[in-house]
Amino acid sequence: MNRIFLLPVEVPSLLRSALLLLCLLSLSLVAVAQETATVCLQCHSAQTGRGGKAVQPWKTSIHAANGISCHDCHGGDPKDAANAMSPARGFLGVPKETGIPAFCGRCHVGIREDYLQSAHGRALGKGGPTCVTCHGSHEIEKVTLELINEKSCSRCHPYERAAKIKAAMEKTEQQIVGIEGRLDRFKGEGVDTETADKSLFAIRNTYHRLFHEVNTARVTSESSKLQGELARLDQSLQKVAEQRAKRKIAGTFVVAGALVAALLFHLVRKTYD
Ligand code: HEC
Ligand code: HEC
Ligand code: HEC
Ligand code: HEC
Ligand code: HEC
Repeated sequence: MNRIFLLPVEVPSLLRSALLLLCLLSLSLVAVAQETATVCLQCHSAQTGRGGKAVQPWKTSIHAANGISCHDCHGGDPKDAANAMSPARGFLGVPKETGIPAFCGRCHVGIREDYLQSAHGRALGKGGPTCVTCHGSHEIEKVTLELINEKSCSRCHPYERAAKIKAAMEKTEQQIVGIEGRLDRFKGEGVDTETADKSLFAIRNTYHRLFHEVNTARVTSESSKLQGELARLDQSLQKVAEQRAKRKIAGTFVVAGALVAALLFHLVRKTYD
């Protein structure tokens, strides 16, 4: 009997607190969602045809993950549904094929320059690939060397020249991954890795800028230079690891020595007692 009376009195107060908490939580979630939802996304998400197709692929892209939305690429006013796609509000629309490198190159400036100077850039509008030929437009993901593959790179010419570039870059990539692993272990042990981090960052940037020129000779020679620099960096890290190992052994000896001394002292005292 008591239990039945308990319910309407105490449980509701608990429930009320829980509900209040839930309400506050969902309110703040709605606030966050409203901050990121633009009129572009709202209207285009509701479309079924050509206008809606961009939304899903974009959602899982590296651009969405970094806060680059529809209006960052296409321009326009993301806050005013009535004038969103007005050229007066900076709407750029869809770029023509020859306009794509400039369209993406507003943000990827260095890559646009390398590309425009390359054999690919010189063939723009004449059968050469643009940024979206290799990366896509809405579904763009973080790059890996897997982007250089037979299916993609033999669409216009034999794969062989692509394979050479990939082979030169693969070894550099492996060295970078190896050093990253070593640095991570050092960090776990509390070692200061700032200088090494900086060197690796600089080498990685140079390495990632190599590709868009598609100059096989330059990729090969620059890669072997970078591989040399990476090998030196790896050696200096190897030395640090060895020194730490030595210090550990020395530490063990000191402790063992202290124990032996204590034992001796104890024995000597016993003999005199
Ligand atoms: C009120 C609805 C609405 C809003 C808001 C809206 N759009 Fe659109 N948009 C459309 C429709 C409808 C089309 C035509 C789709 C089709 O061709 O099927 C379109 C087409 C486009 C196209 C293709 C244009 C072309 O030349 O083919 C782009 C790009 C685009 N919108 C981007 C944006 C961006 C960026 C924003 C926000 C700044 C935005 N839209 C806001 C409804 C909207
Ligand atoms: C990274 C830049 C980028 C972002 C972000 C982006 N777009 Fe695009 N979009 C493009 C490019 C480039 C094209 C031209 C496509 C091509 O040539 O392959 C395009 C084409 C389109 C088209 C025309 C499609 C067709 O079939 O002709 C529409 C519509 C569109 N985008 C809408 C959107 C909407 C809506 C969003 C946000 C969800 C969005 N875009 C986000 C770069 C972008
Ligand atoms: C022929 C195919 C191809 C074309 C054309 C192309 N890319 Fe790339 N892109 C790649 C490949 C392959 C990589 C990966 C190289 C690597 O791992 O270092 C890459 C890497 C990138 C990266 C990552 C760079 C980094 O620092 O990690 C960006 C950003 C990029 N491309 C943007 C562009 C833009 C913008 C254009 C047009 C101006 C373009 N790409 C044209 C194939 C291409
Ligand atoms: C408004 C600025 C902006 C525009 C325009 C833009 N991007 Fe990006 N892009 C970014 C940002 C920010 C990132 C994420 C940070 C980074 O990796 O550089 C990114 C990342 C990328 C990456 C992955 C780089 C990596 O580290 O692996 C590729 C590939 C890429 N963009 C290609 C393109 C292509 C192709 C276009 C044109 C269709 C384009 N971007 C247009 C800003 C932009
Ligand atoms: C849309 C067509 C197309 C695609 C896709 C394409 N290429 Fe090319 N590529 C060309 C054209 C056009 C040239 C310049 C004419 C020639 O040398 O055949 C070229 C030239 C090259 C060259 C020679 C550069 C020089 O200076 O001699 C290399 C290397 C190359 N491409 C690598 C690649 C790689 C790697 C990929 C894949 C990520 C790729 N290409 C995808 C069209 C394409």
